[in-house]
Amino acid sequence: MKIDVTRRQTQRTRPADKDLGFGKVFADHMFMMDHEPGKGWHSARVVPYGPLTLDPASAVFHYGQAMFEGLKAFRGKDDVVRIFRLDEHCKRLARGAERLCMPSPDLALLEDGIKTLVDVDRAWVPASVGTALYIRPTLIATEPFLGVRPSARHTFFVITSPVAAYYAEGLNPVKIWIEDTYVRASKGGLGAVKAGANYAASLLAAEEAKKRGYSQVLWLDAANHRDLEEVGTMNVFIRFNDEVATPALSGSILPGITRASVIDLLRSWGMNATERTITVDEIVERHKKGELLEVFGSGTAAVISPVGELGWHGQRMVLGDGNVGEVSRRLYEAITGIQYGTAKDEHGWLWEVPVARPNGASKKAQPAVARH
Ligand code: COI
Repeated sequence: MKIDVTRRQTQRTRPADKDLGFGKVFADHMFMMDHEPGKGWHSARVVPYGPLTLDPASAVFHYGQAMFEGLKAFRGKDDVVRIFRLDEHCKRLARGAERLCMPSPDLALLEDGIKTLVDVDRAWVPASVGTALYIRPTLIATEPFLGVRPSARHTFFVITSPVAAYYAEGLNPVKIWIEDTYVRASKGGLGAVKAGANYAASLLAAEEAKKRGYSQVLWLDAANHRDLEEVGTMNVFIRFNDEVATPALSGSILPGITRASVIDLLRSWGMNATERTITVDEIVERHKKGELLEVFGSGTAAVISPVGELGWHGQRMVLGDGNVGEVSRRLYEAITGIQYGTAKDEHGWLWEVPVARPNGASKKAQPAVARH
Protein backbone atom coordinates (compact mmCIF):
# COMPACT_ATOMS: atom_id res chain seq x y z
CA MET A 1 0.00 0.00 0.00
CA LYS A 2 1.27 3.48 -0.83
CA ILE A 3 2.04 5.63 2.20
CA ASP A 4 1.22 9.33 1.71
CA VAL A 5 3.62 11.67 3.45
CA THR A 6 2.52 15.16 4.58
CA ARG A 7 5.31 17.00 6.37
CA ARG A 8 5.06 19.74 8.98
CA GLN A 9 5.67 23.17 7.52
CA THR A 10 8.43 23.92 10.01
CA GLN A 11 10.45 21.32 11.85
CA ARG A 12 10.70 21.59 15.63
CA THR A 13 14.03 21.12 17.36
CA ARG A 14 14.81 17.91 19.21
CA PRO A 15 15.89 18.52 22.85
CA ALA A 16 19.58 18.05 23.64
CA ASP A 17 20.41 14.43 24.53
CA LYS A 18 21.27 15.44 28.12
CA ASP A 19 17.73 16.80 28.62
CA LEU A 20 15.93 13.65 27.47
CA GLY A 21 13.82 11.63 29.90
CA PHE A 22 11.47 8.85 28.87
CA GLY A 23 8.40 9.48 26.68
CA LYS A 24 7.92 13.16 27.44
CA VAL A 25 8.54 14.74 24.05
CA PHE A 26 7.35 13.53 20.69
CA ALA A 27 8.81 13.80 17.22
CA ASP A 28 7.26 15.88 14.45
CA HIS A 29 5.18 13.22 12.66
CA MET A 30 3.02 10.16 13.20
CA PHE A 31 1.97 7.25 11.02
CA MET A 32 -1.73 6.43 10.78
CA MET A 33 -4.15 4.15 8.97
CA ASP A 34 -7.75 3.09 9.43
CA HIS A 35 -9.71 -0.13 9.10
CA GLU A 36 -13.38 -0.53 8.37
CA PRO A 37 -15.72 -3.15 6.89
CA GLY A 38 -15.46 -3.54 3.14
CA LYS A 39 -12.31 -1.42 2.96
CA GLY A 40 -9.82 -3.25 5.17
CA TRP A 41 -6.78 -1.20 6.09
CA HIS A 42 -6.66 2.02 4.11
CA SER A 43 -5.34 5.58 4.03
CA ALA A 44 -1.83 4.76 5.24
CA ARG A 45 -0.20 8.12 5.88
CA VAL A 46 2.52 10.00 7.68
CA VAL A 47 1.13 13.29 8.99
CA PRO A 48 2.26 15.99 11.44
CA TYR A 49 2.05 14.81 15.09
CA GLY A 50 -1.14 16.08 16.69
CA PRO A 51 -4.36 15.28 18.58
CA LEU A 52 -6.81 12.66 17.34
CA THR A 53 -10.50 13.46 16.97
CA LEU A 54 -12.55 10.50 18.17
CA ASP A 55 -16.21 9.92 18.83
CA PRO A 56 -16.70 9.69 22.61
CA ALA A 57 -18.70 6.48 22.04
CA SER A 58 -15.60 4.81 20.52
CA ALA A 59 -15.18 1.29 21.93
CA VAL A 60 -11.63 2.02 23.11
CA PHE A 61 -12.89 4.45 25.76
CA HIS A 62 -15.44 2.06 27.21
CA TYR A 63 -14.14 -1.48 26.91
CA GLY A 64 -10.41 -0.93 26.64
CA GLN A 65 -10.05 -2.62 23.25
CA ALA A 66 -6.53 -1.31 22.74
CA MET A 67 -2.98 -2.55 22.53
CA PHE A 68 0.45 -1.20 21.81
CA GLU A 69 4.04 -2.10 21.03
CA GLY A 70 7.31 -0.54 22.07
CA LEU A 71 10.52 -0.72 20.06
CA LYS A 72 13.56 1.46 19.49
CA ALA A 73 15.60 3.00 16.69
CA PHE A 74 19.27 3.79 17.34
CA ARG A 75 21.72 6.08 15.60
CA GLY A 76 25.02 4.27 15.16
CA LYS A 77 28.46 5.89 15.22
CA ASP A 78 28.32 5.62 11.41
CA ASP A 79 25.13 7.79 11.51
CA VAL A 80 23.05 4.90 10.17
CA VAL A 81 19.65 4.53 11.87
CA ARG A 82 18.71 0.97 12.81
CA ILE A 83 15.64 -0.53 14.48
CA PHE A 84 16.11 -3.40 16.95
CA ARG A 85 14.13 -6.53 16.06
CA LEU A 86 11.45 -4.74 14.03
CA ASP A 87 10.15 -8.04 12.63
CA GLU A 88 9.59 -9.61 16.06
CA HIS A 89 7.76 -6.55 17.38
CA CYS A 90 5.47 -6.52 14.33
CA LYS A 91 4.74 -10.24 14.74
CA ARG A 92 3.89 -9.75 18.42
CA LEU A 93 1.57 -6.89 17.54
CA ALA A 94 -0.22 -9.11 15.04
CA ARG A 95 -0.68 -11.86 17.67
CA GLY A 96 -1.96 -9.34 20.21
CA ALA A 97 -4.48 -7.93 17.75
CA GLU A 98 -5.89 -11.41 17.23
CA ARG A 99 -6.30 -11.96 20.99
CA LEU A 100 -8.15 -8.63 21.30
CA CYS A 101 -10.40 -9.30 18.26
CA MET A 102 -8.83 -6.47 16.28
CA PRO A 103 -7.62 -6.63 12.68
CA SER A 104 -3.88 -6.76 12.31
CA PRO A 105 -2.15 -4.95 9.47
CA ASP A 106 0.02 -7.29 7.40
CA LEU A 107 3.62 -7.48 8.51
CA ALA A 108 5.12 -5.83 5.41
CA LEU A 109 2.80 -2.84 5.84
CA LEU A 110 3.62 -2.54 9.55
CA GLU A 111 7.34 -2.65 8.86
CA ASP A 112 7.05 -0.19 5.99
CA GLY A 113 4.89 2.24 7.99
CA ILE A 114 7.32 2.25 10.92
CA LYS A 115 10.39 2.62 8.71
CA THR A 116 8.80 5.41 6.66
CA LEU A 117 7.93 7.31 9.85
CA VAL A 118 11.40 6.89 11.35
CA ASP A 119 12.92 8.01 8.06
CA VAL A 120 10.76 11.16 7.96
CA ASP A 121 11.75 11.95 11.59
CA ARG A 122 15.34 10.77 11.19
CA ALA A 123 16.58 14.05 12.75
CA TRP A 124 14.78 13.02 15.97
CA VAL A 125 16.91 9.92 16.51
CA PRO A 126 19.38 10.93 19.24
CA ALA A 127 22.98 9.79 19.07
CA SER A 128 24.44 9.49 22.59
CA VAL A 129 24.85 6.05 24.08
CA GLY A 130 21.84 5.41 26.34
CA THR A 131 19.46 7.35 24.09
CA ALA A 132 17.16 6.12 21.31
CA LEU A 133 14.04 6.98 19.37
CA TYR A 134 11.31 5.01 21.19
CA ILE A 135 8.62 3.88 18.75
CA ARG A 136 5.08 3.38 20.04
CA PRO A 137 2.68 1.63 17.62
CA THR A 138 -0.89 1.63 18.99
CA LEU A 139 -4.07 -0.08 17.81
CA ILE A 140 -7.45 1.17 19.05
CA ALA A 141 -11.11 0.29 18.49
CA THR A 142 -12.97 3.33 17.14
CA GLU A 143 -16.48 2.19 16.32
CA PRO A 144 -19.02 4.43 18.13
CA PHE A 145 -21.15 1.67 19.66
CA LEU A 146 -21.89 0.72 23.27
CA GLY A 147 -22.82 -2.92 22.76
CA VAL A 148 -20.15 -5.32 23.99
CA ARG A 149 -18.71 -7.04 20.91
CA PRO A 150 -15.58 -6.54 18.80
CA SER A 151 -15.48 -3.10 17.23
CA ALA A 152 -16.00 -2.86 13.48
CA ARG A 153 -13.68 0.14 13.06
CA HIS A 154 -10.10 0.60 14.10
CA THR A 155 -7.28 3.09 13.90
CA PHE A 156 -3.61 2.22 14.00
CA PHE A 157 -1.08 4.92 14.74
CA VAL A 158 2.62 5.12 15.50
CA ILE A 159 4.20 7.95 17.46
CA THR A 160 7.86 8.30 18.38
CA SER A 161 9.74 9.88 21.26
CA PRO A 162 13.45 10.58 21.70
CA VAL A 163 14.35 8.96 25.05
CA ALA A 164 17.13 8.38 27.54
CA ALA A 165 17.08 5.81 30.38
CA TYR A 166 13.65 4.55 31.48
CA TYR A 167 14.47 4.38 35.19
CA ALA A 168 16.12 7.37 36.84
CA GLU A 169 18.39 4.75 38.50
CA GLY A 170 19.73 3.79 35.01
CA LEU A 171 21.68 0.53 35.39
CA ASN A 172 21.87 0.94 39.19
CA PRO A 173 20.11 -1.82 41.16
CA VAL A 174 16.52 -1.10 42.23
CA LYS A 175 14.52 -2.30 45.26
CA ILE A 176 11.59 -4.58 44.40
CA TRP A 177 8.59 -5.58 46.51
CA ILE A 178 7.30 -9.13 45.99
CA GLU A 179 3.56 -8.59 45.53
CA ASP A 180 1.18 -11.06 47.11
CA THR A 181 -2.12 -9.15 47.03
CA TYR A 182 -2.54 -7.72 43.55
CA VAL A 183 -1.97 -9.65 40.32
CA ARG A 184 -0.97 -8.37 36.91
CA ALA A 185 -2.65 -11.07 34.81
CA SER A 186 -4.05 -14.56 35.04
CA LYS A 187 -3.73 -17.57 32.77
CA GLY A 188 -6.23 -17.29 29.92
CA GLY A 189 -6.31 -13.50 30.33
CA LEU A 190 -4.42 -10.77 28.49
CA GLY A 191 -1.01 -11.08 30.15
CA ALA A 192 0.72 -12.50 27.08
CA VAL A 193 -0.18 -9.53 24.86
CA LYS A 194 0.60 -5.84 25.15
CA ALA A 195 -2.93 -4.78 26.04
CA GLY A 196 -3.12 -1.38 27.71
CA ALA A 197 -5.34 -3.06 30.33
CA ASN A 198 -2.38 -5.02 31.75
CA TYR A 199 -0.60 -1.79 32.53
CA ALA A 200 -3.72 -0.25 34.10
CA ALA A 201 -3.97 -3.37 36.30
CA SER A 202 -0.39 -2.85 37.51
CA LEU A 203 -0.59 0.76 38.67
CA LEU A 204 -2.01 0.44 42.17
CA ALA A 205 0.47 -2.24 43.27
CA ALA A 206 3.37 -0.12 42.01
CA GLU A 207 2.04 2.95 43.85
CA GLU A 208 1.73 1.00 47.10
CA ALA A 209 5.23 -0.45 46.67
CA LYS A 210 6.59 3.08 46.22
CA LYS A 211 5.00 4.12 49.51
CA ARG A 212 6.94 1.29 51.16
CA GLY A 213 10.18 2.56 49.61
CA TYR A 214 10.38 0.12 46.67
CA SER A 215 10.68 1.07 42.98
CA GLN A 216 8.43 -1.64 41.54
CA VAL A 217 6.86 -5.03 42.25
CA LEU A 218 7.68 -8.62 41.41
CA TRP A 219 4.48 -10.23 40.15
CA LEU A 220 3.40 -13.69 41.28
CA ASP A 221 0.90 -15.97 39.53
CA ALA A 222 -2.77 -15.18 40.04
CA ALA A 223 -3.89 -18.67 41.13
CA ASN A 224 -1.50 -19.44 44.00
CA HIS A 225 0.57 -16.28 44.53
CA ARG A 226 3.57 -18.57 44.41
CA ASP A 227 5.26 -18.61 40.98
CA LEU A 228 7.28 -15.65 39.70
CA GLU A 229 5.84 -14.03 36.57
CA GLU A 230 7.27 -10.57 35.76
CA VAL A 231 8.96 -7.63 37.44
CA GLY A 232 7.29 -4.23 37.00
CA THR A 233 6.74 -3.92 33.25
CA MET A 234 9.60 -6.30 32.45
CA ASN A 235 10.39 -10.01 32.23
CA VAL A 236 12.42 -11.33 35.13
CA PHE A 237 15.63 -13.38 35.25
CA ILE A 238 17.21 -15.02 38.30
CA ARG A 239 20.81 -16.19 38.48
CA PHE A 240 21.14 -19.15 40.83
CA ASN A 241 24.81 -20.20 40.82
CA ASP A 242 25.49 -21.30 37.19
CA GLU A 243 21.88 -21.25 36.05
CA VAL A 244 20.14 -18.13 34.70
CA ALA A 245 16.41 -18.91 34.94
CA THR A 246 13.33 -17.05 33.73
CA PRO A 247 9.68 -18.04 34.20
CA ALA A 248 8.44 -20.23 31.34
CA LEU A 249 5.83 -18.53 29.13
CA SER A 250 2.65 -19.80 30.72
CA GLY A 251 0.01 -17.69 28.99
CA SER A 252 0.06 -14.82 31.49
CA ILE A 253 3.63 -13.64 30.81
CA LEU A 254 4.57 -11.31 27.97
CA PRO A 255 6.92 -12.99 25.48
CA GLY A 256 9.44 -10.18 25.67
CA ILE A 257 11.69 -9.49 22.69
CA THR A 258 14.51 -8.51 25.06
CA ARG A 259 13.74 -11.68 27.07
CA ALA A 260 14.26 -13.77 23.91
CA SER A 261 17.45 -11.83 23.09
CA VAL A 262 18.82 -12.43 26.61
CA ILE A 263 18.15 -16.18 26.35
CA ASP A 264 19.82 -16.34 22.91
CA LEU A 265 22.87 -14.40 24.12
CA LEU A 266 23.30 -16.47 27.30
CA ARG A 267 23.09 -19.72 25.32
CA SER A 268 25.51 -18.38 22.68
CA TRP A 269 27.96 -17.77 25.58
CA GLY A 270 27.58 -21.38 26.69
CA MET A 271 25.58 -20.46 29.79
CA ASN A 272 22.74 -22.49 31.24
CA ALA A 273 19.66 -20.34 30.46
CA THR A 274 16.46 -22.08 31.53
CA GLU A 275 12.74 -21.33 31.19
CA ARG A 276 10.91 -22.96 34.09
CA THR A 277 8.69 -22.45 37.15
CA ILE A 278 10.45 -20.41 39.84
CA THR A 279 8.63 -20.18 43.16
CA VAL A 280 8.99 -17.49 45.76
CA ASP A 281 9.91 -20.27 48.24
CA GLU A 282 12.85 -21.20 46.02
CA ILE A 283 13.96 -17.56 46.02
CA VAL A 284 13.83 -17.38 49.83
CA GLU A 285 15.58 -20.76 50.31
CA ARG A 286 18.34 -20.17 47.82
CA HIS A 287 18.93 -16.67 49.11
CA LYS A 288 19.47 -18.19 52.57
CA LYS A 289 21.99 -20.64 51.07
CA GLY A 290 23.84 -17.84 49.26
CA GLU A 291 22.86 -19.25 45.84
CA LEU A 292 20.76 -16.28 44.67
CA LEU A 293 23.41 -14.30 42.84
CA GLU A 294 21.53 -11.88 40.60
CA VAL A 295 17.99 -10.80 39.75
CA PHE A 296 17.26 -8.53 36.80
CA GLY A 297 14.43 -7.35 34.60
CA SER A 298 14.62 -7.25 30.80
CA GLY A 299 12.59 -5.02 28.51
CA THR A 300 12.84 -2.68 25.56
CA ALA A 301 12.66 0.50 27.60
CA ALA A 302 15.36 -0.18 30.21
CA VAL A 303 17.10 -3.11 28.41
CA ILE A 304 18.42 -4.68 31.67
CA SER A 305 17.38 -3.45 35.10
CA PRO A 306 19.28 -5.06 38.00
CA VAL A 307 17.52 -5.71 41.32
CA GLY A 308 19.51 -4.92 44.46
CA GLU A 309 16.96 -5.95 47.08
CA LEU A 310 13.74 -7.96 47.33
CA GLY A 311 11.13 -7.33 50.02
CA TRP A 312 8.88 -10.25 51.07
CA HIS A 313 6.70 -10.55 54.19
CA GLY A 314 8.86 -8.23 56.24
CA GLN A 315 12.15 -9.82 55.09
CA ARG A 316 14.77 -7.91 53.11
CA MET A 317 16.77 -10.06 50.72
CA VAL A 318 19.81 -8.07 49.66
CA LEU A 319 21.48 -9.21 46.47
CA GLY A 320 25.16 -8.82 45.70
CA ASP A 321 27.25 -5.98 47.07
CA GLY A 322 25.22 -3.04 45.80
CA ASN A 323 26.98 -3.10 42.43
CA VAL A 324 25.57 -4.31 39.11
CA GLY A 325 25.91 -8.11 38.85
CA GLU A 326 28.37 -9.55 36.37
CA VAL A 327 25.81 -11.26 34.10
CA SER A 328 23.46 -8.24 34.17
CA ARG A 329 26.31 -5.96 33.09
CA ARG A 330 27.57 -8.32 30.41
CA LEU A 331 24.08 -8.60 28.92
CA TYR A 332 23.49 -4.85 29.05
CA GLU A 333 26.78 -4.19 27.28
CA ALA A 334 26.21 -6.91 24.69
CA ILE A 335 22.69 -5.75 23.79
CA THR A 336 23.48 -2.04 23.72
CA GLY A 337 26.71 -2.76 21.81
CA ILE A 338 24.67 -4.43 19.06
CA GLN A 339 22.05 -1.65 19.14
CA TYR A 340 24.57 1.17 18.69
CA GLY A 341 26.53 -0.78 16.09
CA THR A 342 29.71 -1.06 18.19
CA ALA A 343 29.42 -4.87 18.46
CA LYS A 344 28.82 -7.28 15.58
CA ASP A 345 25.14 -8.07 14.98
CA GLU A 346 25.69 -11.82 14.74
CA HIS A 347 22.02 -12.64 15.26
CA GLY A 348 20.63 -10.38 12.51
CA TRP A 349 18.64 -8.26 14.97
CA LEU A 350 19.09 -4.84 13.36
CA TRP A 351 16.94 -3.41 10.60
CA GLU A 352 18.46 -0.48 8.78
CA VAL A 353 16.16 2.45 8.02
CA PRO A 354 17.03 3.47 4.47
CA VAL A 355 16.96 7.11 3.44
CA ALA A 356 13.85 7.62 1.29
CA ARG A 357 14.17 7.57 -2.44
CA PRO A 358 13.43 10.87 -4.23
CA ASN A 359 9.71 10.02 -4.73
CA GLY A 360 9.31 9.85 -0.96
CA ALA A 361 8.69 6.09 -0.69
CA SER A 362 10.84 3.93 1.57
CA LYS A 363 12.59 0.92 0.20
CA LYS A 364 11.18 -2.46 1.14
CA ALA A 365 12.04 -3.48 4.72
CA GLN A 366 15.29 -5.44 4.82
CA PRO A 367 17.26 -6.73 7.78
CA ALA A 368 20.59 -4.89 8.13
CA VAL A 369 22.45 -8.18 7.78
CA ALA A 370 21.44 -11.54 6.43
CA ARG A 371 19.69 -13.60 9.09
CA HIS A 372 20.38 -17.28 9.64
C1 COI B 1 9.35 -2.14 28.37
O1 COI B 1 10.05 -2.64 29.22
O2 COI B 1 9.78 -1.87 27.27
C2 COI B 1 7.97 -1.83 28.71
O3 COI B 1 7.10 -2.57 28.43
C3 COI B 1 7.76 -0.56 29.40
C4 COI B 1 6.92 0.37 28.62
C5 COI B 1 5.46 0.08 28.83
C6 COI B 1 7.25 1.79 28.93
